[in-house]
Amino acid sequence: MLVAGNWKMFKGPSETVAFFDAFDPPLGVDVVVCPPYVSLARAVGRGVTVYAQNVHWDAEGAYTGEISARMLVELGVEGAIVGHSERRQYFGETDETVARRAEAALDAGLGVIACVGETDDERASGRTEEVLRRQVAVLPRHERLVIAYEPVWAIGTGRTATPAIAQEAHALIKSLHRAPVLYGGSVKPDNAVELMAQTDVDGALVGGASLDPESFRAICVAALV
Ligand code: PGA
Repeated sequence: MLVAGNWKMFKGPSETVAFFDAFDPPLGVDVVVCPPYVSLARAVGRGVTVYAQNVHWDAEGAYTGEISARMLVELGVEGAIVGHSERRQYFGETDETVARRAEAALDAGLGVIACVGETDDERASGRTEEVLRRQVAVLPRHERLVIAYEPVWAIGTGRTATPAIAQEAHALIKSLHRAPVLYGGSVKPDNAVELMAQTDVDGALVGGASLDPESFRAICVAALV
């Protein structure tokens, strides 16, 4: 089981230090924390695996605002999220750029959590399977690649997918790709056990509830049940 915390644009360096001073990860579960770029250096070396929230596909170049895999490696960061729906929605991320970012990260020796998931409209119009097939098809086959199924309608909304909906999507993704599949979208301490108990759910990608050391620990403990 893998539990990853995606902090999004929360916690600068001093709040990151405070989080790790208070966070006591349980044994027996792989825990990953994904702070903003400026906080990565403070997170490395605190007993938990550290991933970035994005990574560029080139080693260096004229790409204002971007960070390369090599730079993350130099810092002791062990991986990156790619293709989060907020990147797709607000920053023009496409299936093609997600694939390029994932490949570059894997080539540099990093782990990757690649996010996929349908919007509310896509689910309502019966296109969930088509969307997941398209998003998964571009992802590289690699032992360090993990997929996160994050239905867009469940992110930050408190509208968690039911365990049955999650299981159905995870089973489809696993029929298309050999990677472990995390569930993400309003995972909280009180729904984490049930979600992670599903056969094809291999862990969780947690947003809001990963910001508090106690609630994030509780979700990590739920992965052990
Ligand atoms: P949430 O975010 O847990 O706050 O819904 C999940 C994510 O975006 O990874």
